[in-house]
Amino acid sequence: MEIFHLFDKKYIKNNNEAPIAVFDSGVGGISVLRALLSEMPNENYWYYGDSANAPYGTKSLEEVRRLTVSHVDRFIGEGAKAVVVACNTATSAAVRFLRQKYPSVPLIGIEPALKPAVLSGNHPNVVVMATPMTIREEKFHNLMDRYIGMAHIIPLPCPGLMEYIEHGDVRSVELEQFLERLFEPFEKQKLDAVVLGCTHYPFVSRELKKVLGENVMLFEGGPGTARETKRRIAEADLLRKSREPGKILFENSNDSPDKQRLCRKLLGISFS
Ligand code: DGL
Repeated sequence: MEIFHLFDKKYIKNNNEAPIAVFDSGVGGISVLRALLSEMPNENYWYYGDSANAPYGTKSLEEVRRLTVSHVDRFIGEGAKAVVVACNTATSAAVRFLRQKYPSVPLIGIEPALKPAVLSGNHPNVVVMATPMTIREEKFHNLMDRYIGMAHIIPLPCPGLMEYIEHGDVRSVELEQFLERLFEPFEKQKLDAVVLGCTHYPFVSRELKKVLGENVMLFEGGPGTARETKRRIAEADLLRKSREPGKILFENSNDSPDKQRLCRKLLGISFS
C-alpha cells in the first residue's frame, strides 16, 4: 500500500475526498492511525502530532483543553471531514466541549479499553496504565464505576513513559528497567490484563510482555476507536468513494526530520 504520499492541503474541501484529521499530543496516535488504516485503507488521513508541547498528561486540564481546541479549530477550518482525537488525555479534557462546538462534524475520542479487559475473565485483576491526567479526570472515574463489581481494577499513572516512545525508544534496557520499576508494587503473576490507556503505550507492548510475562493480556483502544470512526463517517455519508488507496499527510509541531522519520517507522513496525 502506498501510504506515504503527501496530499496538497489546497485541495481539501468539505467532501468525501477530504481527510480525516487524527490528532495526538505526539507520535502515540499513530497506534490509532494503524487501526484506522486497517479499517479504512481508502481514506485520506491528516496526522497531526503536537510533540513540541508534549507531554499533555502532566499538564493542567485547562492547558490541554486550550491546546486541543486550537488544533481541532484548525483541522475543521481547513476542511477535515472528521476528527479523531487519538489521545486519551486530550479526549478527557476536551471532547465533550468540542462536540458542543461542532455538532455537525463527526468527532471521535478514545478511552481506555476497559470493557474488553474486564470481560476477558472471571473477576480478573486489571491494571489500567494511563497518564496522570486521564486517571484523575471524571471521564475515567465514570468508566471505572461501570465495571467496578466485575473486576479488580487498578489505575496506574505512568508519568515519564510516553517520553521513551517520543524519543523513538521502544526497545532498550533503560525502558525495560523503567517498566520493571513501574510494576514493582504488583505480584505480576496475579495480573490477568493490562489496559494500554495511552495511545503511546502499544508501541512498548513487546517490552511489557518481557516484564509481565506472555500470559498477561494487553488491551488497546485503537481498534474500537477505528470501528466507531467508520460507523460515524458512514452515518454522515462521508466515506470516500474512490477505490484508490488513501494518502497520509504527517504534520508535527516539532517539524524535525527525525520526528517525520519516527512517524513513518512507528506506522511500519509491528507492536504485538
Ligand atoms: N498519547 C496520549 C494519551 O493517549 C498521552 C501522552 C501525553 O502525556 O502527552 O493519553
